[in-house]
This record gives sequence, structure tokens and C-alpha cells, in this order.
Amino acid sequence: MAREPMHVQDLIASRLSRRALVTGLAGLPLLGLTTGCATPGAAGGAGGPIPSGADFASVPATTADAITLPPGHEAKVLISWGDALFEGDGPFEPASLTREAQERRFGANNDMLALIARDYAFPPRTDAARFALCANNEYISLGLMYPGKPLKFDAAQMAALYASVGVSVVAVERTGADWRVVLDKAPGAGVNRRITPFTPVRFSGPAAAHPWIARAGEIVRQAEPGAGAGLVPCGTLANCAGGVTPWGTYLSSEENFNNFFALSDAGAPGARAARQDPALVLDAEAFGYPLFDNTIPAQAVPAQFDIARNPTGPALYGWVVEIDPNDPSWAPRKRTALGRRKGECATTALARDGRVVVYSGDDQANEFVYKFVSTGKFNPSDRLANRDLLDQGQLYVARLEEDGTGAWVAITAAAANAAAIEAEHAARFSDAGDVAVRARIAARLLGATPMDRPEDVEAVLDETWTGQGAVMIVCTRNTELGYGGPGNPRRPDPARPGRAQANVAGHILKLEEAQGDCASLTFTWDVFALGGDPAATAPVASLRSGAAGHVAVTYRDAPTTTGARFACPDNLCLSTKTNLAWVTTDGSDEVFADCNDAVLAIPLAEGPGPKPVKRFLVGPIGCELTGPVLSPDERTFFAAIQHPGESNVAGVNFIDARLADPAVKPFSTFPDGGWPRSSVIYVRRLDGGVIGA
Ligand code: FEO
Ligand code: CA
Ligand code: CA
Repeated sequence: MAREPMHVQDLIASRLSRRALVTGLAGLPLLGLTTGCATPGAAGGAGGPIPSGADFASVPATTADAITLPPGHEAKVLISWGDALFEGDGPFEPASLTREAQERRFGANNDMLALIARDYAFPPRTDAARFALCANNEYISLGLMYPGKPLKFDAAQMAALYASVGVSVVAVERTGADWRVVLDKAPGAGVNRRITPFTPVRFSGPAAAHPWIARAGEIVRQAEPGAGAGLVPCGTLANCAGGVTPWGTYLSSEENFNNFFALSDAGAPGARAARQDPALVLDAEAFGYPLFDNTIPAQAVPAQFDIARNPTGPALYGWVVEIDPNDPSWAPRKRTALGRRKGECATTALARDGRVVVYSGDDQANEFVYKFVSTGKFNPSDRLANRDLLDQGQLYVARLEEDGTGAWVAITAAAANAAAIEAEHAARFSDAGDVAVRARIAARLLGATPMDRPEDVEAVLDETWTGQGAVMIVCTRNTELGYGGPGNPRRPDPARPGRAQANVAGHILKLEEAQGDCASLTFTWDVFALGGDPAATAPVASLRSGAAGHVAVTYRDAPTTTGARFACPDNLCLSTKTNLAWVTTDGSDEVFADCNDAVLAIPLAEGPGPKPVKRFLVGPIGCELTGPVLSPDERTFFAAIQHPGESNVAGVNFIDARLADPAVKPFSTFPDGGWPRSSVIYVRRLDGGVIGA
């Protein structure tokens, strides 16, 4: 039987206590230096002097309802929720939103952003000016929908709300210092389109014919008639982060899909039968969708999202979806070989031999970090030859050891069954498709290391997309865990002397793949930076919740960072020209209430001493910063402002305020002084220079 894996916090704690005894090791970075990081398509970087930090003035903490930037920079709004994608569609009217309107307009709650060149080239050109902007539309902020209406939605309105999530693809182009959206004349005339939870998609890979998917697929086809042969009109939803491929496609990762499912009648025959299937019960527990208790009136959600009518519907989600933004005729593919989870991202790197590696975090407390390695190799000279690369390969999950080493454990049905038998666990996996559908349960049986909500994972690449071995893993926080790590200076619990608290501020890990090859099956790991306050001299700070917390950034008896404080890192992008990690936060204001969520710049190169952190951008009130991405020339920084006004500076949720007083004014008026709308923004330097240089 595999040894019981330690939680990553216990591993960190254990290593801390062990290191304190190892004279001479304290303060030395465990991992190799990173001196030449690169994002695909960005030239240069390697070989030049390593900057010691970003070259701009760190933005002071602020709770302004605006985009706040360093002097010498300006931000503009590129597109917002509800903006038209097609000519002649007129202004957005959120109070009368319909499904049909939303299927033609930019989606809500934008998250991951990617710029995919309209003219394919490999390696990508750094001077491209025409792109398909791909944006994930993650979830429904009920309190921010249907202004002026009661917060009680009928079936038509619910369908419109569902259509607000998924993916938006929109043509954009750079003209001089500015960027603009290019409207299409009509759907099909160009690349502009919405992919919603109703769009026909194709399941591919080992789980394509899994019985749960087959059964749910038929129910969805009945609910949404008209999909072509082999297609399931279940589209995509809960799209958080994702990735891009070297062959010019977009990968969108489905995260909290459980929130889209409801149970109208726990006594319905389908629901009763589902509860007799131990595998489905385990699945519902693992993902948190309802199987036992009614949650809604029958008419509240589209029928296919009612567990009573579609008991295996949740098996249609939790996948990585591949979309070709430049070819709308190609149905999006659910790549089941990559495993099913609440995936945050799907970041690609090429192995040294040309195989394709896809990294992903599973953003739930105590879940895991995965990577997929394709069987076939990337063909740079024939874009379309790569279309099925993600259907065949091996899925692995990360296991971290106390001594700073680690291994990628292959997830196979045979290995998972052997582990289950040894552990006297009831789970059994019938084949590769079954283990892909239930990858989380298999991973746990196989000894994967539980993490503190692993979100974005980004690999350091060179200009040919080849992974250099360094891989950053952002762990946003873990409010559930109160572990007790001996000798752990990180998070002693002020309320429980001698015990450790939950991970309130999050941290960033760094892996170094063996031989600098992203296909390696072993790695070393270390803490890159701890979220928190470099100026914290006492282990106690007052969180907005009123609880006391430990937010020092000390690790190995030395500070990991100096400069700007932050908490709850979530997404990041890496830049070549400046060797910076651009880190966005989600919920930092719950720890440090004097500043809205923000974008931080942290130098990637590991020199001696703490890393100087600068605050680059602060978002408006109640938003989360998502989707950071640089243009290929690194002269424009894009980000998504997600859910502005969802809460106020005091932490009150707008939906609660609106339920108490239907006339309450929104907490934010971003982006245009009216009803708050999630938006894509871009930032340029006034002198046109490289961002951060
Ligand atoms: Fe959608 Fe994990 O943030
Ligand atoms: Ca995220
Ligand atoms: Ca998040």
C-alpha cells in the first residue's frame, strides 16, 4: 500500500523543522536558478542581466473604485460583459437579458484571457497585431444580474444566466498604442462567437463513451435538439483558467461545475437509482453536487442541470475543453485524457523530445496538481496534424516528499485498483475512461499530495515553447486546514498556542523537473514565496473577518519577500524580457482590507535574499483580478476584472445588501459609471515601453 501522503503544509512544516537542524543549509535555495524564463512567442530574455525587480513605482494600497497604476501607465477597457460581438446589435440592456441576446454578446465574469494570432506561425511572431481574444466566463454573480428586477428568476431568465458563462471569442487588433474589438457582420462571418453551456461539443479520449457521459449526453440532446451526430450540446461552463497550445488552440478548464447543478426532487427515480451507485455517491461527495437533498424548485434551472432529471449530468463537466478560435466550424473537444477535476488551468509546455505536457491545478482544498504527457509529438510544420495530440497520453499526479524531492505518479486503472484493494477502499476502476472520469479518487488512492487549493500552474518556456524545467504552482489558500506542524514559523495559531492555523494568505511553490525536462517523472520542489506581509513583525494580524491571523512571510528563518504585501495569489503569467511573475490575487482584501485585489510583480530569478514584490495594478471595489497575459511584444498587459462590486470594502456581499434593500446602489460602478460589469482591460506605458522593464 502506498504510504499515506502528507499534506503539503505538513511537508513544509516538516522540512522547516528538519532544516533548522541542518547547519549551513538555512537560507540556501533548494532549487536551481532560473535565468532565462520565457513566454511563447516572446523573444529575448535569456542571456541578459537579470533585473533585481520591476522598474516601476509600486502602487500604494488603495480601496478606490478604479484601476490604479504606477505613474507613467494607463489602462483602458477593451470589452465588458454584454458588449456586442456583431454589428447592429445595439447597446446592452442587462435588465432584459435573454438567452438569445447573451449568446451574441460578451459573457459575464471574465477569467482566463489568451491572445491567439489570427495568422498562425510557429514559433509565434512577436510583432503580431491581429488576434482572437479568448476569454473564459466563469460563473454567475446572481446579485449583479438583472438590475432593477427582483432577485427571483424565471426559467427564461435562468437560461440567459447560464448562457452568460462559457467562453467568448472576439477578434481584436492593435492600432498604434491602442487595441480595439473588431465586430463581425454576423455569426459565422468571422471568429467572434460565444461557447455556452448549450453549444454542441464532442467528447474525445478514453472517457468519450463512459456510461455516465453517454447517458447524460442523450438527456442533453433531448433537452437541446438539433445537435449534429456525435455532438453533445452541453457546451462548457465554470471556465476558470486554461492555456494555449503551440498549434494555436485554446484550452479552457472547467472548475466549479457543481454549482450549476441542482436537485429538484430527491425522490425522483433517477436520483434514487443514482444513490444506489456507490461510485456516483463518491463522485457527488468529491465534487459537492446534490444527490440527497432538494435544492431548488423544479423549474429553476434548465432541465439538463437538474440531477433529478439528469443524474449523471455532472460527468459532462470538469474537463479541459479545446477550442480552435480561428476555426469556428471545428466543434470544441472535451479532452477526457486530461482527467476530470475542478481544473483551474491547462498550461502547455513541450518536452525535450517534442511531446506535449499539460499542467493543471485542481482548485479545491486538499486536491492535487496534475500533468498530462502526450504520446505523440508536436508537429510545428503542420498545424492541423496536432489536433488529436491531447487524446492519447498518460495522466500523472504530483507527490511531494519531505526532503524536497517528488514524483509524478501515473494514474492508471490497474494502479488505482491495486491501491484501492491494498487500502481496503471500495472504489474500482473498469478502464482508462473510468479512471479519467474519477481521476480525483484514483489520485488520492495513489498517494498524491493534498495541496492548499492549487490554482494556476505555469511552466517556464523558451521561445520554441520548450519547457525549461521550472514550474510555478500558485496555492491560493486553505481555510479548512488547521494542521499542526512542529517547528513551523509560518502559521502558528494566535487563538491556539502551540498549534498551527489555516493557510490564510496562500503561497507559491516552485518545481524543478529533473533534467530540465517537463516530461520527467521526478522533480525537486521548494517554497518560492509566501503570501503575507513582509513588514509583519508580530505573528498576529487582524483579518477582515475579525479573526487573528499569522501573515509573516518568513520561511527558513528568513523573509521570502520584501515590499508590497499581498494574500491569496491565484493566477500568474511569466514574462521573458523582465523575468517577472505577474501574480493576480483573489480575496487578498479579506486578509489586508486596506487594498482591493491586485496584480503583483515578483522577480523569478532566485538570488540571495527576499524577492522584492511590487504592486502593479489595483482593481476596483469588490473585484478579483484574473486572466493576466502579456502581448507577444510585452508592451501591453491584459487582465480581466472579474465581478466588480460583488462585495464592498467592508466585505458585505452585494447580493445580501440587495436582498435586504432592492434599491441599494451597486458597490462599484466600474467600468463606465453605471451598473458594474466584468471587463477586459489593457495597460500600456505612456512611453510605449516593455511592461515592467
Ligand atoms: Fe476560478 Fe480557482 O478560481
Ligand atoms: Ca482562479
Ligand atoms: Ca479564483
